Amino acid sequence: MTTGSVLVTGAAGFIGSHLVDRLLEDGVDVVGVDDLSTGRLDNLAAASAHPAFRLVELDVTTPGFRDLVAGTRPRAVLHLAAQMDVRKSVADPLHDSRVNVLGTVNVLEAAVRAGAERVVFASSGGTVYGAPDTLPVREDAPLRPTAPYGAAKVAGECYVQMYARLYGLQGTSLALGNVYGPRQDPHGEAGVVSIFARALSTGAPTTIFGDGTSSRDYVYVSDVVEAFVRCLDGSARAERYNVGTGTATSVGELHDLLAGIVGVAAEAATAPPRLGELQAISLDSRLLARDTGWQASVSLPEGLRRTTAWVQSVLGSR
Ligand SMILES: NC(=O)c1ccc[n+]([C@@H]2O[C@H](COP(=O)([O-])OP(=O)(O)OC[C@H]3O[C@@H](n4cnc5c(N)ncnc54)[C@H](O)[C@@H]3O)[C@@H](O)[C@H]2O)c1
Repeated sequence: MTTGSVLVTGAAGFIGSHLVDRLLEDGVDVVGVDDLSTGRLDNLAAASAHPAFRLVELDVTTPGFRDLVAGTRPRAVLHLAAQMDVRKSVADPLHDSRVNVLGTVNVLEAAVRAGAERVVFASSGGTVYGAPDTLPVREDAPLRPTAPYGAAKVAGECYVQMYARLYGLQGTSLALGNVYGPRQDPHGEAGVVSIFARALSTGAPTTIFGDGTSSRDYVYVSDVVEAFVRCLDGSARAERYNVGTGTATSVGELHDLLAGIVGVAAEAATAPPRLGELQAISLDSRLLARDTGWQASVSLPEGLRRTTAWVQSVLGSR
C-alpha cells in the first residue's frame, strides 16, 4: 500500500517550491527532495514550518534517493529536479545528461519499486520542439531539440512513457512554456523576466540579444503549479501536455511592459543573437484544457506586476 504523500523533486527550486506550498495548502503530505545545487532553502521558508512537510537534501541520481522513496512510498512523484540552464547543457552535455536523463531514470525506477501510482515529469515546451512549423505548437508536432537540454527532456519523456507501458505506472510529461514569477532564478529558461525586472528597478542597463523580435510563451508560475496539481488525478491521460498561454511575446515587448510597470523610460542596448536560440515558440495547451479543465488564469501584465513587486521586495530587504 502506498501512503497518501506526494514526493516533489527539485522542491527548493523556483517552480518546485511553489508546488510544495500549493500541495500543503491543499492538505497533502509532501516530501521534498533537493540537492540545493541551484535551489534555495529560503524558497521553502513557509513550507519548512508546516508539519506536513519534510525536506531531504539528496541528489536524485544516487542510490540514496531510491532508498528514500522506498521508505516513503509516496502515491505520486512530481519530478522537477534538473540541470535547467540551456547554455550550460551545451558547454557540458555529459553533466546535463547525468542529471536530466540518468536522474529521471533513477526517479522512475525508484517510483516503480516503491509502488507509486503516478509520475509527472517537468519537460520543456520551449526546447523539445525546436523551431516548429506552425504556432502555437501542438503535442503531436515533431520533436527537434537544438540543445542537449532539450534532447535530455525528450529522453526523459521517452523513459516516462516506456515505464508507463512496462509497469503500468501512470506517467505524464508537462511541456512547460517559459515560466516566470516570484523566486525565479535569473539563469533559468525564462530568467529574462527577473533579469529585466531587477535591472530596470535598480537603474542598471539592460541588453536584448538579437533584434528584439524573438518571442516566447510566458506562463505564470501559479498556472504551472495548477497544471501539476490537475495531473495528480486520473483525468490526465496523455503522454505529454503543453502548458502555456498560446501567445508568443517578443523580448522587446516584454522589456517595454516591464519598463512600464517599473515606471522608467529605459531603452535596452542590443547585442548579437546567441547561438542556438529559437526565434519563436508558443504552445497550444488545448489538450490539457480538454482533459483537466486547466486554463492559464494570470495575464502577462498581471504576472509581470507580481514578479516585479517580488523583485523589488527582495531588493528592498537587502
Ligand atoms: N523555469 C522554466 O521556465 C522552465 C521551463 C520548462 C521546464 N522547466 C523545468 O521545470 C523544472 C523546474 O525548473 P525551475 O525553473 O524551478 O528550476 P530550478 O533550478 O529553480 O529548480 C530545479 C531544482 O532542482 C534541484 N536539483 C538540480 N539537480 C538536482 C539533483 N541532481 N538532485 C536533486 N535536486 C536537484 C536544484 O537545486 C533546484 O532546486 C526543471 O525540470 C526544468 O527543466 C522549467
